Amino acid sequence: MRRSRKAQQTRTALVAGGAGFLGSHLCEALFGIGYRVICVDNFLTGRMENITPLIGQSRFRLIEQDICSPLELGEPVDRVFNLACAASPPRYQADPVHTTRTCVVGSLNLLELALRDGARFLQASTSEVYGDPEQHPQREDYLGHVNCIGPRACYDEGKRTAETLCFDYLRADRADVRVARIFNTYGPRMDPADGRIVSNLVMQALEKRPMTIFGDGRQTRSFCYVTDLVEGLLRLMDIEPNPRQPINLGNPGEFTVLELAGLVRELTGTRSPVKFLPLPEDDPRRRRPDIARAKELLGWAPKVPLRQGLLQTVVYFAELEGSATVSPAAATNRPGADGFETGGAQDPDASGVLFTEAEHPTEILVGPDNRHGERSRAVEAISQGHRADGGRGNRRLPATILHHLPRMLRQPDDDASSTRRSRNHPRAGS
Ligand SMILES: NC(=O)c1ccc[n+]([C@@H]2O[C@H](COP(=O)([O-])OP(=O)(O)OC[C@H]3O[C@@H](n4cnc5c(N)ncnc54)[C@H](O)[C@@H]3O)[C@@H](O)[C@H]2O)c1
Repeated sequence: MRRSRKAQQTRTALVAGGAGFLGSHLCEALFGIGYRVICVDNFLTGRMENITPLIGQSRFRLIEQDICSPLELGEPVDRVFNLACAASPPRYQADPVHTTRTCVVGSLNLLELALRDGARFLQASTSEVYGDPEQHPQREDYLGHVNCIGPRACYDEGKRTAETLCFDYLRADRADVRVARIFNTYGPRMDPADGRIVSNLVMQALEKRPMTIFGDGRQTRSFCYVTDLVEGLLRLMDIEPNPRQPINLGNPGEFTVLELAGLVRELTGTRSPVKFLPLPEDDPRRRRPDIARAKELLGWAPKVPLRQGLLQTVVYFAELEGSATVSPAAATNRPGADGFETGGAQDPDASGVLFTEAEHPTEILVGPDNRHGERSRAVEAISQGHRADGGRGNRRLPATILHHLPRMLRQPDDDASSTRRSRNHPRAGS
């Protein structure tokens, strides 16, 4: 069938895993910059509510399918983003053989589709390819320290094999492939029950349950806010020429798990006790990306400080819970070294006021210009109202959140100073 002139100009992006946490934000950003978006998902960990704002739109199509089966779309695509794979350890370990199959067979099926359509391909790889790293921070040329027979191997080795396939397709000139090594990313639409560190701590704090920390909490992690990450993925997909090497995308700010827990306590005002549990097998001790390559080749660096992103995440989870308890103490009480002595009052006003789009802090999240001096289309989409909450419209949140938000966001918490803090922290890991 002949496509109209307008349809010919509209590029089509397939997002595998598009109903998941990152995938749904990516679908929305692509849609916002004019793509026709095809979301393929088997809803293993994805949720329909993540893509509700897109359902019914003429430029959006949802295909419920497992990528382990070959895809027959009946229409060509220009871009393939492969984000399909459960990312939280309890979820990907629940059926480890399926996880490996998704990474290997699923990626192969999508690479074949890209080959057939002459589409550009982006693989969502992971910092887990570095395993429990002996090099710090992790650069892309570090080959990793991975246990190939441990419980995390289905994911770590699966993702490593997927990268192997990607670079074999690239070397053989079968597809224009790009690989992003994503470090821990957080934000609204994370599954509250998926067992990841940010969702765990925030949900436990909001539900006034003990906050569980594995090990002694001195292990470090870096946390990238979702809009920053999506911006990085779009730049990597668009950049010319093909970098022909994997690129780390993450936030180099490094925090101990104790520091993260302290910040969650501060923002939620919880008095939940902290409970220490044994460290899971193969849990990495240190995680921090070296993003020099992303800065140089993509002109990309994350912009959203942990405090700001975490606040938005707390607000999202609080809203899901129907118990928005972001603490006004966040604006006034400074925590001690690990924040645990800070109690903070619970929000006394649950009556709610309108939290309008104009006041929504997502508006602040504007990334840098790219190295060609063009204002990125993703940045435009974000600043024109691509919203972290999926565009569900005005939301009712307690007056105290609204009242204290500006001051909360002004707290000095840039990632560089946090990194310094964590290095000097008496309880920080080596
Ligand atoms: N979020 C992070 O911190 C992070 C870090 C590193 C890498 N990544 C990678 O980014 C991608 C997205 O992660 P996320 O955090 O959004 O996870 P997620 O679990 O929220 O999303 C994964 C999506 O893929 C779908 N899926 C899983 N297996 C599938 C299959 N066989 N066929 C079709 N769909 C399938 C799930 O239903 C879900 O919608 C993953 O590939 C993950 O490995 C994420």
